[in-house]
Amino acid sequence: MKFKRYTVTAALPYANGPVHIGHLAGCYLPADIYVRYLRSKVEDVKFICGSDEHGVPITIKAKKEGITPQQVVDKYHKMMAEAFNEFGVSFDIYSRTSSKIHHETASEFFKKLYDKKVFVEEVTEQYFDEKANQFLADRYIVGTCPKCGNENAYGDQCEKCGSTLNATDLINPKSALSGEKPVLKNTKNWFLPLDKMQPQIESYIDSHKEWKSNVFGQCKSWLNSGLQPRAMTRDLDWGVKVPVEGAEGKVLYVWFDAPIGYISATKELTPDWELYWKDKETKLVHFIGKDNIVFHCIIFPAMLMAEGSYILPENVPANEFLNLEGDKISTSRNWAVWLHEYLVDFKDKQDVLRYTLCANAPESKDNDFTWKDFQAKNNNELVAILGNFVNRTLVLTHKYYEGKVPEASEYTKVDLLLLEEISKYPAKIAASIEQYRFREALSELMNLARLGNKYLADNEPWILIKTDEKRVQTIMNVSLQISANLTVLMEPFLPFTSVKLSNMLNLNKELKWNDATRTDLLLAGHLINTASLLFDKIEDEAIVAQVQKLEDSKLLNEENNVAMIEPSKPETSFDDFSKMDIRIGTILEAERVPKTDKLLKLLIDTGIDKRTVVSGIAGYYKPEEIIGQQVCILVNLAPRKIKGIESQGMILMAENNKGELSFVAATKDTMNNGGAVK
Ligand code: MF3
Ligand code: ZN
Repeated sequence: MKFKRYTVTAALPYANGPVHIGHLAGCYLPADIYVRYLRSKVEDVKFICGSDEHGVPITIKAKKEGITPQQVVDKYHKMMAEAFNEFGVSFDIYSRTSSKIHHETASEFFKKLYDKKVFVEEVTEQYFDEKANQFLADRYIVGTCPKCGNENAYGDQCEKCGSTLNATDLINPKSALSGEKPVLKNTKNWFLPLDKMQPQIESYIDSHKEWKSNVFGQCKSWLNSGLQPRAMTRDLDWGVKVPVEGAEGKVLYVWFDAPIGYISATKELTPDWELYWKDKETKLVHFIGKDNIVFHCIIFPAMLMAEGSYILPENVPANEFLNLEGDKISTSRNWAVWLHEYLVDFKDKQDVLRYTLCANAPESKDNDFTWKDFQAKNNNELVAILGNFVNRTLVLTHKYYEGKVPEASEYTKVDLLLLEEISKYPAKIAASIEQYRFREALSELMNLARLGNKYLADNEPWILIKTDEKRVQTIMNVSLQISANLTVLMEPFLPFTSVKLSNMLNLNKELKWNDATRTDLLLAGHLINTASLLFDKIEDEAIVAQVQKLEDSKLLNEENNVAMIEPSKPETSFDDFSKMDIRIGTILEAERVPKTDKLLKLLIDTGIDKRTVVSGIAGYYKPEEIIGQQVCILVNLAPRKIKGIESQGMILMAENNKGELSFVAATKDTMNNGGAVK
């Protein structure tokens, strides 16, 4: 079936942090490529997104930053909207779920299901944190995933194996607020009976065997393990209030309200919103990351089915995850490339990032972003192939014809073959895009630039110019037409470069996808503008600096983590501690204990006597270095024979986060030998 119009959404990101490359590669970039392509095909399309401003991720962030949830979402909503805009993600609307229109829309939606008696109202035991005096839902609770054993699974989902969970499924649950073991307490909630809806949902999924195999496969595995009823309300105070009686102090489950955000944003965008959500001839496509699959393929469609008047998602192209330099991207560990920081270091190079992320998109498996590869993609592909072809074409046109497009007088067989080949590209690239294979589409685009490059290299107009001027005119005309076609076909992927090249070619009318099959986009005599480089080389230093920045943040992070390590030994009493007689001593002699790696035999002046102590510090100190060193020594420890030597006390050492030991001692000036440590 051919669709009349398209509603394309990209997952509403939680407004709890800035945007990083993982977000971009996961869904915003593919969605943007798809939409730009559709616009170029002159399709009727609305591209919808906004900030997800409810849910526990927001309140947790607020607590961490010591500000209100509203302040959190205001701050990050603005930042995210700006980042998307700067990278050319061309939403028709970027709204937010704290807006009035959204609260109303989500409320009405809930009320309609409530009135239709869709929900099952049930009092169940939910986890409660007595210290924080609140119920713990979703990410407020962490524990071990019953399916895969991941110890950091959340109350609603395990990010490791992708299972959706109920908080009560977790093994060893702990409150994310206090770290305490929660208690169970009765509370009433409204459940969507997914169990009863299973047959309906199953036939919907089965009618979409064309979905990407990772998506279809995940859906089938949930269906096979049997859907469970899922609470659509929560005992929390941040969110959309549950609009029914007896629901004071409760809000809608964030995964109930957020997808409705797509609908409310469309409402905000156009009075015709119903056409985009209720007309069978509209194709609804959700771009998401893989952790969102169950919500978009099962729960949201179930909500839409239960409501009754909406169309269902036609496709849900979900990407896998992008890693960074071999490690999982993490906001809390600051292991990420933030879009706003990228632009500071790589000004005006949005398209280089778009290119690298699309060429490496985690379409069918997790993938890795590395700075080295980013540099290689820029230098060896964008500069060497696309940039080089366009630059040679434009520079030669200026050189030979003062910037005027020359006439193609007579095509040779080679030209005709090339033109024939070129005319196939719009359809080829389109086919890949329509199947959500953006990497493949992008590599076809580069193949077109390669063809152009090869054409110039094979025909060598710079040599022919001396012997066959007429032939050169045709060659340059053909190369210019290819350049014009490239502006159209690159636009979804590299929108900034497309504008730049269109300006250089002085193309004054807006070209559309189907124009790219033509070979007369630039008429003879048309004057082009001055040429400048489309891309420039990225040097090693710039890359080294980025890698260093990541390393630094890793180190900083390790240091921060030390503070969070819990004491490794059980609590001790003051009485026990004060039984120890600790004195300041000086090392008089030191030597290795033969046939051991770790042990040193020390002679220590304790101020009251001189004693021999065997100490396991050979891995950290050389004997000759520590003569004269002041140490703390425990003198009332029972003597013990070690390797045949009687050790008459113990040196106190302190351990750092890497397990390395160092002396605990006062400086020589402040203490005399024998001074007791109190
Ligand atoms: N905020 C969610 C996330 O970042 C995505 C919400 S998508 C929507 O994982 F459908 F709920 F809007
Ligand atoms: Zn798991």
